[in-house]
Amino acid sequence: MGVRVSSSRLVSAVSKEGALGVIATVGLSEELEDMTPAYVTRAEIGLRQAIRETKSNTPNPLGVNVMCALTNYDSLVQVSAAEGASAIISGAGLPLKLPGLVSDPHVKLLPIVSSARAAGIICRTWQKRFSRRPDAIVVEGPLAGGHLGFSHEEIENLEERGLERIVTEVIAVAREYGNIPVVAAGGVYDGNDIARFLRLGAAGVQMATRFVCTHECDASDAYKQAFINCRKEDIVVIHSPVGMPARVIKNDFVERYLRGEKVNFGCPYHCLITCEPAVAGYCIAQALVASYRGQMDKGYVMCGANAWRCDRIVSVHELIEELVEGTVAALRSEPPGHN
Ligand SMILES: Cc1cc2nc3c(=O)[nH]c(=O)nc-3n(C[C@H](O)[C@H](O)[C@H](O)COP(=O)(O)O)c2cc1C
Repeated sequence: MGVRVSSSRLVSAVSKEGALGVIATVGLSEELEDMTPAYVTRAEIGLRQAIRETKSNTPNPLGVNVMCALTNYDSLVQVSAAEGASAIISGAGLPLKLPGLVSDPHVKLLPIVSSARAAGIICRTWQKRFSRRPDAIVVEGPLAGGHLGFSHEEIENLEERGLERIVTEVIAVAREYGNIPVVAAGGVYDGNDIARFLRLGAAGVQMATRFVCTHECDASDAYKQAFINCRKEDIVVIHSPVGMPARVIKNDFVERYLRGEKVNFGCPYHCLITCEPAVAGYCIAQALVASYRGQMDKGYVMCGANAWRCDRIVSVHELIEELVEGTVAALRSEPPGHN
């Protein structure tokens, strides 16, 4: 979770519990003691620090998430591999060149897709160009947080059981390439949800929203409280400067943007391939760094469709224990509709 929402504190705690913590590599250039190096170098330094700190906390595997939409994609992928990330998870675009940037075959490569078509294109391209297949495929559905790989209309039409359908279709593609494990993401909230996707044939789930409401989450308390206090109707999908829809919690900043007000900004480093600073209503990097720091008047928080269900802050240990126990209990019981 970017920007800086899942960094070394949250990732260390998650990985210590035996799940795979994932460092968001976006926006790591902005909190360094020495801000003199150029943007790309600062981002590399920030990422190295986050990976090294996590590794000093736990020997367990850690992942990184690198968005294809970033102008410094190549450098973030290469630094992640060189620093010993166990897995690189990559979406917000098709990560067609990812295997070409990582020579170490031990680094697991996981593309994120929102359709079976995208999964097929990636598998075919990786096989043809690099004789490599994804180590797992993350399927992100329409209830996910952050940027969404769907049109606004698709999000409305697909909310009902959309992820189940796409997961089933992606599993069929994954079978053609030798049973690549498929990971379901987007709206997975509790053990019942996890069990449902495991029954469907998923190998695991990727979760974000619930982990914002943990003591260890790296974001400010104000960020976490926005989750705790939001109502269902406060969660909206807006068009982000990334060029994709994004799910966020409505606040004054979002309302001003929806009214068409612009926040003037100088773009010091063109961090997103797809952003056009001259027409963007605001700088998304500045907005997300602000909310990470707790300056809610200058930004907003991203969230999954289930954020309104979060009602307390817990420890990562408590959350994972609850999820594991809930999953085991659901798997032991009869599946819904089973006679
Ligand atoms: C606050 C927040 C930030 C996110 N940032 C990123 C990101 O930087 N890159 C990315 O690929 N996905 C990002 N996501 C999407 C998550 O990785 C995840 O797949 C999705 O939110 C899962 O759905 P859930 O939030 O319902 O669990 C973000 C999600 C949230 C809630």
